[in-house]
Amino acid sequence: MNVAIVRIVAELRSIVAAWHREGLKIAVVPTMGALHEGHLSLVSAALAKADRVIVTLFVNPKQFNNAEDLAAYPRTEQEDAAKLASVGAHILYAPDAADMYPQGFATKVSVSGPSDGLCGAFRPGHFDGVATVVTKLFLQTGADLAFFGEKDFQQLHVVRRLVRDLDIPIEIIGNPTVRESDGLAMSSRNTRLSSAERRTAPKLPEILFKTARRLTSGELVERTLREARQAILAAGFSKVEYLELRADDDLVSIATLNRPARLLVAAWLGQTRLIDNVEVRSPQRLDQILKQAAA
Ligand code: PAF
Repeated sequence: MNVAIVRIVAELRSIVAAWHREGLKIAVVPTMGALHEGHLSLVSAALAKADRVIVTLFVNPKQFNNAEDLAAYPRTEQEDAAKLASVGAHILYAPDAADMYPQGFATKVSVSGPSDGLCGAFRPGHFDGVATVVTKLFLQTGADLAFFGEKDFQQLHVVRRLVRDLDIPIEIIGNPTVRESDGLAMSSRNTRLSSAERRTAPKLPEILFKTARRLTSGELVERTLREARQAILAAGFSKVEYLELRADDDLVSIATLNRPARLLVAAWLGQTRLIDNVEVRSPQRLDQILKQAAA
């Protein structure tokens, strides 16, 4: 069966209102398209918890701080629609930019706290753009549940905080990062890597997991992170924007491993910026994540 493509918010609202009258539970999976297995795993998780699943496809200009990056973002709506049909999503909501941000649009949702530092420091305005569009998508879809990948871990925190602060009645569910068999986190940006860069890219999760293992075995945080940054550069990355240890539940910086934590990284490989993160828990948990990726 084909997935229904809806572009007009009034049409979406009337479908959703009918579903709600029938007592159905509705989930939304916000995306910018160029769908890969990571997105499809979110759709499957959504289908397991909800009766109807809306996938949104909108390449949001407000979250790009670089016009070339926005222009280069892959746009593959037909292929995306076919993939969504194959997994059983119900609606692909793909609004036009002129409808999302009509002439005179003047509102910005800005979430301080979880947006500070990490990607927030290197992509000024990015999380305002994300928070603004996600707020609109939640209000437009009226969904009961929303699914996000943990690959964008800081984004997940920003979204959780805005929903809490603005009392938006939607449950946010984070799903584990889906990895290629060599460990590279799936991302629409991976298609921009040259074949030589693609061979180098898995070094990033390899170093990340090794560093997490060292931290869980009690090695000093500052020195271990310094050595990991050096290892990323030595592997062929041109720049490490950040490699930081943060608390898992509120993203505050931590200098010693005294609570469940996340190790988060952003690094450039040629013209491509890659991000990744890993839980810093027991060594057994790290083994389990890697085995799942290789399966
Ligand atoms: O993660 C993404 O693809 C985007 O940031 C999102 C959440 C769809 C908002 O544009």
